[in-house]
Amino acid sequence: MEPKVFVTRLLPEEAMNQIYSFCEAAVWDGELPPPREVLLENLRDIEGLLCLLTDTIDAAVFDSAPRLRVVSNCAVGYDNVDVLEATRRGIIVGNTPGVLTETTADFTFALMMAAARRITEGEKAVRAGKWKTWGPMLFLGQDVHNSTLGIVGLGRIGEAVARRAKGFGMKLLYYSRTKHGELEKELGLQFVEFKELLTSSDFITLHTNLTSETKHMIGREEFSKMKNTCVLVNTSRGPIVDQIALYEALRDRGIAFAALDVTEPEPLPADHPLLTLDNLIVTPHIASASVATRTKMALMAAENLIAGLKGEILPYPVNPEVLRKR
Ligand code: GLV
Repeated sequence: MEPKVFVTRLLPEEAMNQIYSFCEAAVWDGELPPPREVLLENLRDIEGLLCLLTDTIDAAVFDSAPRLRVVSNCAVGYDNVDVLEATRRGIIVGNTPGVLTETTADFTFALMMAAARRITEGEKAVRAGKWKTWGPMLFLGQDVHNSTLGIVGLGRIGEAVARRAKGFGMKLLYYSRTKHGELEKELGLQFVEFKELLTSSDFITLHTNLTSETKHMIGREEFSKMKNTCVLVNTSRGPIVDQIALYEALRDRGIAFAALDVTEPEPLPADHPLLTLDNLIVTPHIASASVATRTKMALMAAENLIAGLKGEILPYPVNPEVLRKR
């Protein structure tokens, strides 16, 4: 008998076909994530769950899914999954690292450039009929080339951003859990203390995982250390930035601009105070959203799911210790 799985949103067709070829799959085909009670109701007989970062996968989910063996999260970040609890229960968890690195770094750069050069403000002005003439002082922004970029978290995506920034002649500072000696040499990166990164950078870009340690790591105190010309870019996870502090820093011009692809909460309500500000760009968590990358991510998630159901080591495991324990 084919193993039963639940897929919490319709994925690109190639990935769905892979899943259907091996599993009996129930698929939530709503545009929004399945409501919590629907998710819990659908888990009773399933052995595999393919979920997205919009699904909270916690002890209550595991309690409702007594036969569950594998959780395949179609994202590189897995802060939506209680991995410790999964490991304790012998449930393997997989994610989709690597394939989205370059696509996300492209988008990070796009946000940085758009913020620095006030592209969204200019575009809105044109559409609103406010473009009267070429102006010597019209929408003056900041140069990206030759400026200083502070990278917080030098994992795969942080590194890919650094490679792009090198091409722009930027001075590269980074702060990370681990020092990367070889990369420092190759890209001219300089490891600095967090405080120095905050005070010295013209642009700051965040590429850390969301954990209890990184939650709100950019708050009032950190904003107070930044240059008032600083541009903050976040394509990692919303809660890494304390948004009340961000709102105040942008409103009071403590920093110049923020460009966010991730917020807390998501979606950001249309009446959120941040959205009253001009010196902010917000996009709807689309940094990895190219056709090619989202297709590859879904295929990786399908591969993880199927390997887990077969009792094999996942190609992209988060908690490989589960199989060793088994
Ligand atoms: C997207 O945010 C991801 O973690 O893949």
